[in-house]
Amino acid sequence: MASLYQNIIRPLLFLQSPENAHNFSLSGLKWAERLGLPLVCLRSLCSSPAGKEVKLWDLEFSNPVGLAAGMDKDAEVIRPMLGMGFGFVEVGTVTPVAQPGNPKPRLFRYPQHHAVVNRMGFNNDGLDSLVSNVSRFKTGKPCKGVIGINIGKQKDTPNEEAHLDYLKGFEATADLADYVAVNISSPNTPNLRELQDDQPLQELLKTLKEANASRTAQGKRHVPTLLKIAPDLEDAHLEQIVSNVVDHQWDGIIATNTTIDRSGDYADFETPGGLSGRPVKEKSTAVIQKISKLTGGKLPIIGVGGIETAADAQEKLDAGASLVQVYSGFIYQGPKMARRIVQGIKKPA
Ligand SMILES: Cc1cc2nc3c(=O)[nH]c(=O)nc-3n(C[C@H](O)[C@H](O)[C@H](O)COP(=O)(O)O)c2cc1C
Repeated sequence: MASLYQNIIRPLLFLQSPENAHNFSLSGLKWAERLGLPLVCLRSLCSSPAGKEVKLWDLEFSNPVGLAAGMDKDAEVIRPMLGMGFGFVEVGTVTPVAQPGNPKPRLFRYPQHHAVVNRMGFNNDGLDSLVSNVSRFKTGKPCKGVIGINIGKQKDTPNEEAHLDYLKGFEATADLADYVAVNISSPNTPNLRELQDDQPLQELLKTLKEANASRTAQGKRHVPTLLKIAPDLEDAHLEQIVSNVVDHQWDGIIATNTTIDRSGDYADFETPGGLSGRPVKEKSTAVIQKISKLTGGKLPIIGVGGIETAADAQEKLDAGASLVQVYSGFIYQGPKMARRIVQGIKKPA
């Protein structure tokens, strides 16, 4: 299957523009699921090799390898993704209402570097649509897999009111999400990353902490809530973020989003947007190591950035991540990737 994807399917997909190839692949998966086609990639629907389970928060992950946010923004292909061997799928980023995102072209491949640049800008169908899609998944045929919902703010919402968009996202998804990921680190929504600064961050952390507490006061479950951060932070800034997350008793950090850094080998990547894949691998591992050191390994981390192989995933796990996610690597490695990684990593401790 690796060679079928790499020798035939990928070259055909790469003949199209990256965004068309993405949409074509998603449509294919949707139709395959609808028609119940016995595709190889769906044959082992929702099963995972034994022995790689991870228990974290109140959740059981059949394996620690997940699909990162941004691939299935509207939660349309959860089941096929789990069928390809992912232990969890993070859908979104979803904003309160639908928005078109940035003008096209906004997605670029750099195959020689196994890299991607995107400036999608949170194109998505909005909360109502995502909630209805996740509900349909949950009420459909039982399927083992943890679902994270990644929430964001509307492009036009000023940062002073951003916490209210996140509150809307949290309240609309908390009953359905196994965990909620709060994305304040996309480089493609103007000024979004400024929400990582001390004052707005504290306001956001406090708002969702109170929303979670009011759920538990009503007898509902606490929803594990994680902050997704950028790989481009100064050490002092990272320290401040981690200490805020710990002080507000959030449940973990997702490290990292795409990078805006073009230093070193990537100085000639002039396309504006977030760079992902191989070029962000070391940066994100370094961030994971720092968070793990700062928290004595006590704060759960989802490690993401440049993972293509089991060795890459193991590096993130060894750096202190409890779970890992992939996006760009999946474009280059294809449908067998998750299973290969799961087989190749050590049994979680
Ligand atoms: C095309 C594209 C769209 C993305 N969209 C989102 C998004 O909507 N929300 C988010 O939190 N991260 C998004 N990301 C970031 C990924 O989830 C991931 O954090 C980053 O790409 C690093 O992982 P990778 O090197 O495996 O791609 C996107 C990445 C790409 C390439």
